Amino acid sequence: MSETARMILDGQEYEFPVITGSENEKAIDISKLRGSTGYITMDPGFKNTGSTQSGITYLDGEHGVLRYRGYAIEELAEKASFIEVAYLLIYGDLPNKEQLAYFNDSITHHTIVHENMKRFFDAFPLGAHPMGMLSSMVASLSTFYPESQNPNRDITDIDLTIHRLIAKLPTLAAQAYKHNVGLPTMYPKNNLSYVGNFMHMMWGVPAEDYEVDPIVESALNKLFILHADHEQNCSTSTVRVVGSSQANLYSSVSAGVSALWGPLHGGANQAVIEMLEAIRAEGSPLQSWIDRAKDKTDSFRLMGFGHRVYKNFDPRARIIKRAADEVLGQLGVNDPVLDIAKQLEEVALNDDYFVQRGLYPNVDFYSGIIYRALGIPTDMFTVMFALGRLPGWIGQWKEMTENREPIGRPRQVYVGASERAFTSLDAR
Ligand code: SDX
Repeated sequence: MSETARMILDGQEYEFPVITGSENEKAIDISKLRGSTGYITMDPGFKNTGSTQSGITYLDGEHGVLRYRGYAIEELAEKASFIEVAYLLIYGDLPNKEQLAYFNDSITHHTIVHENMKRFFDAFPLGAHPMGMLSSMVASLSTFYPESQNPNRDITDIDLTIHRLIAKLPTLAAQAYKHNVGLPTMYPKNNLSYVGNFMHMMWGVPAEDYEVDPIVESALNKLFILHADHEQNCSTSTVRVVGSSQANLYSSVSAGVSALWGPLHGGANQAVIEMLEAIRAEGSPLQSWIDRAKDKTDSFRLMGFGHRVYKNFDPRARIIKRAADEVLGQLGVNDPVLDIAKQLEEVALNDDYFVQRGLYPNVDFYSGIIYRALGIPTDMFTVMFALGRLPGWIGQWKEMTENREPIGRPRQVYVGASERAFTSLDAR
């Protein structure tokens, strides 16, 4: 029996259908609300509003569950390669040997970017934030591949665009890094893994053969998987809304890169390290920072804490915290900031303000500590998040496109001036 929700407006009763998802999540379908009642709903930040029905990622915020296409994040992080997870998110199933070989080979042979793009990098100022460079370069890919701009694109065009973007993002990310450190760009090497090739382009130099460190390769593979998708977060919703106008994939993902940059979203991993460094430099008691985070008159927030969905724990933060101990131990890195992070977590989780609000470490709290141990500069942390999130953005854009979802265009309640006549300049 299909459920309904009843609403009484101006003395009249209305019924709206209830949607039930495959994990028994419930939603009231209000797609006919305005047409039948003249009312709209109001929900700043869309905290209670679903934008789509998606089969890609399932989150259970109360129980700390995260699954990509039904597979638990804990299993994928331990057993899968990032390229396998990218295929899973985009095409819906884990690839078999032939599918993986084709996917891998196609991506490997699209890693080089047009030589003209080097001139774009040369034009950026030294010290340009890599996220600003990355979002610009991703958007410019649409100019080199105009067939991607065709809104009536057929599946082969879409697949080629998808493979090109997955292949070229690490190349562009590494070029942004090399621009700022003043070292020569490294061309991709086809005999390396996806992650190994990124490492080669980041840290390799022409003078010698780069040796891929398996510890670093494994850590990055796990971190990319943990960041690969997260249902309708800010940047993914941005990719979907931009794509809903039939903008091409490159422009949609470029917008996602820009949304991810914000310190309340993916930019938090950079903000966390800056916060921990400030705590270390100042040496004041951790409780004083906790008190500042609770003080509504103080703009300071405990970066890397809190989440719109997870209210008990972020499963990714648990995995990354363990990985931080493992990787720093394997690399022989002793980073005092890791101890500060653990102590800060301890103090916060014994404070009612955080516990009552369900504020726990999120994916960004420990990830920067690993990136730092791997030799990645702080301003590249959110680029690392973007590299991981790319297949999620692509899979969500592809789902929205295939479902021919309507252009995203929210309504509003107008609270401005009522009608008034124009007055001449002398009369104002
Ligand atoms: C990511 O959506 C996703 O899935 C995102 C992400 C993904 O994979 O795509 O998981 C990645 O973006 C993780 C979040 C990274 N951001 C940060 O770590 C920045 C610090 N965190 C916050 O700014 C905040 O917690 C958000 C943005 C993450 C969530 O904000 P919400 O859901 O809008 O919650 P809110 O701001 O309304 O906060 C609710 C209460 C408020 O206090 P009261 O008004 O109830 O008194 O909690 C407080 C907030 O002041 N609060 C914090 C806090 N986070 C929330 N107080 C101090 N420090 C914090 N970090």
